[in-house]
Formats: sequence, structure tokens, C-alpha cells
Amino acid sequence: MKSAVIAGAGVYLPPKLVTNEDLCARLDTSDEWIRTRTGMAVRHVVEPGGATSDLAVEAGRRALESAGGGGADMVVLATTTPDHQVPPTAPDITHRLGLGTTPSFDLSAACAGFLYGLTAASGLIATGAASRVLLIGADAFTTMVDPDDRATVVLFGDAAGALLLRAGDADEPGSIGRAVLGSDGSHADLIKVPAGGSRSRSAGPVTELADPAQTYFKMNGRDTFRHAVRRMSESSRAAVSAAGWTLDDVDRLCAHQANARILAAVADELGIAEDRQLSNVAEVGNTAAASLPTLLAMSAANGTLKAGHRVLLTAFGGGLSWGSATLTWPDIEIG
Ligand code: UT7
Repeated sequence: MKSAVIAGAGVYLPPKLVTNEDLCARLDTSDEWIRTRTGMAVRHVVEPGGATSDLAVEAGRRALESAGGGGADMVVLATTTPDHQVPPTAPDITHRLGLGTTPSFDLSAACAGFLYGLTAASGLIATGAASRVLLIGADAFTTMVDPDDRATVVLFGDAAGALLLRAGDADEPGSIGRAVLGSDGSHADLIKVPAGGSRSRSAGPVTELADPAQTYFKMNGRDTFRHAVRRMSESSRAAVSAAGWTLDDVDRLCAHQANARILAAVADELGIAEDRQLSNVAEVGNTAAASLPTLLAMSAANGTLKAGHRVLLTAFGGGLSWGSATLTWPDIEIG
């Protein structure tokens, strides 16, 4: 059975920046609170009129170039912020990348979307349904956040990251280990956009949509924090064990960049010291489904992630949804 092997990686951050100082100028918050409670300093955001696909196309193009060309025979977009409710965004990205009628689909698992996408891509390759999957994690999450909610607006940025996964062998560098995934809908209310879906649309013509506040992202931060640490730690242990590794074998922890304090708590729980942790939370914030591929590509580009490093990936988000997986970083040029 074939394994999914990383052949290329790319990242795209929109150039517009929002600093802590920008947020302090219009909200009751402080640089000190944001840095100490979240570890964040700056976020990249889409321009007015911009959308997730704009970021995804650029990251996808870079991943294809990084893989040395050759296209893809499947495109998967992990996102919670599609350009539209209909149509799905992946076909537009595929078209704009010049990939013609290549099959493509959106996948929604909030901040765990990229890990679910890796599992989907691995399955597509294992069954022979695809041999080269372009997996993109992209979110313009700032478009969903209430600009006046100081508890959430400080956390999020926009970005896209992509991997080109080819069919290969399990013992090759770059091959994706078996992911350990989970979900718990009993806590669905912890992270939610109340209106805009069928639940509110069925209630009558734009009744709930008439209240714009209900179309914004809501999060119970404190409870989410607790679940995030528990689920990322548990699934990390399971993924490491499924790979036949111990936690001492992990050279780099690549965790969803939700909050520097969550990362520290997970790393502490797993006994992974700071010099083995990858982080870009200060520079990009929480970029949802883009978080893991963005961190991989940026870390490989700046040399903190090197060929041969054994990497533990872990993520957690709305749903609740979570997962962890392992890989060995291959020798590739980052796009
Ligand atoms: O990507 C999906 C997964 N997401 C996450 O995992 C995020 C998880 N949660 C978190 O990262 C944190 O819970 C937050 C960063 C959202 C909040 O940090 P916290 O340490 O849990 O703060 P808190 O919610 O317990 O609030 C503490 C205080 C509150 O004031 P009172 O009630 O104690 O007077 C908040 O109103 O901090 C206040 N606060 C702020 N103060 C200044 C909340 N946001 C801000 C702010 N500036 N931006």
C-alpha cells in the first residue's frame, strides 16, 4: 500500500499587518495583556474584498513549484472560511492554479482541518484514488471575528500553507504516519458562529441574520483552553506510539498555534523542551486550518526544521475536533 510523502511545501501570508498597538488604539486591551496571555504580537490579514482562495492559490502555487512541477491529480482545501457557502472554494483554486478539471473538494474541521486533510490525502493515495494530492490549509479567519470582541480579535490572523503529497513508501523521509483523530460534539457550543447555517436559515427569512452579532465567531476561551491541552496531549501520545516512537524521539513539536500558553502546557505535559518546539504564534497568531502547514513551511525556511527531523503534529479546534500525526521532514526547497 502506498504512503503519502511530502514532495513540496509552500506558504503565503497576506502583506497587510495588524499589530498589538493597532488593536490597543481601538479596544480596551494592552500589548502586555496580549503578549503575556497569548504570545501574539502581529497578525497578517486579508485586504477588504480579499478571500481565502486568494491566499490558498498563492500557497498552492508555491507548493507545486517546491515539488518541481508535475501538477496534482486531487486538490483538497481545509478551511472554515470558504469564499462562499456555495460553491465550494477548492474548484476555483484548482482552476486558478491551471489544474483544469482536476477533482477538488473543501474539508471543514476547524483548526484541526489540516490534520483531517492529511488523513484524507493519505487515504486517497493508499487506495490509488490519487497519486499527487495538493493539500491546502487556508483561512481568512479575521473575516469571521467580531472586530469589537477583544477576547477573540486579538487571537486570529489570515494565512495559507500547502503540501504537495505524492505516492511513496512508508519508510521514505516525508512520509505521513497514521494520524490519531477525535471529535466531541457534546461541546459544540464552545466554539461557534451561531447564524448563517441551515439552523438559522430554516427559522425564516433572515430572522437571526438580522442580528449581525450572531454571524460572528464566539468562543468560550477558558473551557476551550482546557480541552485543547487535554486532547492535543492525549492524541500526541497515541500518534507517537502508533509510529513506534517514544516522546524522546520527537525532534520537533509542530502544534496548532492557538496560544503560546496552550503550546507550553502541551509541551510540558509531553516533556518536550522549548528547543524542540516550533512556533510562529508571535508573527502570525492563530491562522486556523493554515496553522500547521504555515508553521512547517516557515520553520523549514528559517532552518528551525531540518531534513531528517522527526516531527509530531497536533491540532485542536471547534467541533470539538482534534488530532495528531507524525512525519520525518524531507529534503525539499520551500516555495
Ligand atoms: O483555535 C481554536 C482553539 N482556540 C483556543 O484553543 C483558544 C483557547 N483559549 C485561549 O487562548 C484563552 O482562553 C484566551 C486567550 C482566549 C483568553 O485567555 P484567558 O487567560 O483564558 O482569559 P479569560 O478568558 O479567563 O479572561 C481573563 C480576563 C477577563 O476579565 P475578568 O473577567 O477577569 O475581569 C477578560 O475579560 O481577561 C479579560 N480579557 C482581556 N483583557 C485585556 C479578555 N480578552 C482581553 C484582552 N485584553 N484582549
